[in-house]
Amino acid sequence: MQKDDKKMANVAVLGHGIVGSGVVEVLLKNSGIIEKRCGQAINVKYILDIREFPELPYSGKFIKDFDKIINDPEIDVVAELIGGITPACDFVKASLCAKKSVVSSNKELIAKKGAELLKTAHENNVELFFDASVGGGIPIIQPLYQCLAGNEIEVIAGILNGTTNFILTKMIRESMGFDETLALAQKLGYAERDPSADVDGDDACRKICILANIVFGNHICPESVYTEGIRNVTPEDAAYAGEWGGVIKLIAYAAKSGDGSGVEMMVCPAFIKSSGHLAGIDDVFNGILVRGNAVGDVVFFGKGAGKFPTASAVIGDIISAVNSKGKSRLPVWSDNGVNTVKNRNEYKAAFYFRVTGSSADRFIPQGSQKLELPKKTAEETAFVTPVITEDEAETLVKNIEKSGSKLLNRIRVLEY
Ligand code: HSE
Repeated sequence: MQKDDKKMANVAVLGHGIVGSGVVEVLLKNSGIIEKRCGQAINVKYILDIREFPELPYSGKFIKDFDKIINDPEIDVVAELIGGITPACDFVKASLCAKKSVVSSNKELIAKKGAELLKTAHENNVELFFDASVGGGIPIIQPLYQCLAGNEIEVIAGILNGTTNFILTKMIRESMGFDETLALAQKLGYAERDPSADVDGDDACRKICILANIVFGNHICPESVYTEGIRNVTPEDAAYAGEWGGVIKLIAYAAKSGDGSGVEMMVCPAFIKSSGHLAGIDDVFNGILVRGNAVGDVVFFGKGAGKFPTASAVIGDIISAVNSKGKSRLPVWSDNGVNTVKNRNEYKAAFYFRVTGSSADRFIPQGSQKLELPKKTAEETAFVTPVITEDEAETLVKNIEKSGSKLLNRIRVLEY
């Protein structure tokens, strides 16, 4: 029987890891409701993986030869769930050139090669969807293109990494150590294969680049975004943040610069007031704040990592790809080789400083707020400066070091 007679779309899943296996399981579990919404059944025809899974009821679908997928005219959509650049990039490109729509959860690939791959999709009249690459199960990419399309977006800021949010939350609430919490996050399937991408901020950086590319329309290279992770954040810093009236979160943001000539972007741990939109987003949850010039502030919230939340986003994209058949308005940005990210020296923020010694008055800027913990554990001084430039913050670091005090930490204060 022909594919069209059966009203069935065929999908090839690349990679049977945490996300890939989640996608296959949910497609099977929710097949009835998906068929109703899609107007046709979605059949996983192949699963590409170098491993074998003889114990699975769908073990017959596993293949090792990628060419079988691109040479099969029955395959409508390829779901790339491998991660990384090699071989994922070649597989995605070959699939698009073979006129198969692609759905990808791969933030590294989309952040680095998105402009090129979107162009290839456009040239071949097929789709490249990647909602699962940012915010796990949170629908964020399609809303930016559809529901919020009437807005000029001024700011997009988020907690975009579940692993670091999980670690910071445990640190704040249970004084759990960094290593212990990271091991737990890995066990729960939140962390990347190489967890440094999470804890050093690179994963959040790739995600904010994808969002900024969509919002500002130009390719932003992750390397051009200043990125600081959470390795230096301690339970003491979290306690000072509590005394100040807030929490520490790893924030990734992109904001249109004041003169409109570029974008201010950064990934960094930040003090956020408890009343801030992103302050209450804890554990593995992600939150994304979008500030539009018509809508004002909109906040998206949900599970940013994990097998089934990510599978939910991938399947949403598979359904969109099947339904649109290359006719959707692709979320396209271009790479014109111009770096629109403004020089960091000009950015302004208040800063939290923690330094050794109790006589720091000689270098604390006027107007700073001193912070005290109820139980002093060491001879140290903590304070929050008024709003200063990054350059002024660097000068302050030098003055602290010249005075014989040691800088224990320095964290920006952000208003999200
Ligand atoms: N390692 C990522 C995170 C997975 O912790 O958010 C989802 O992209």
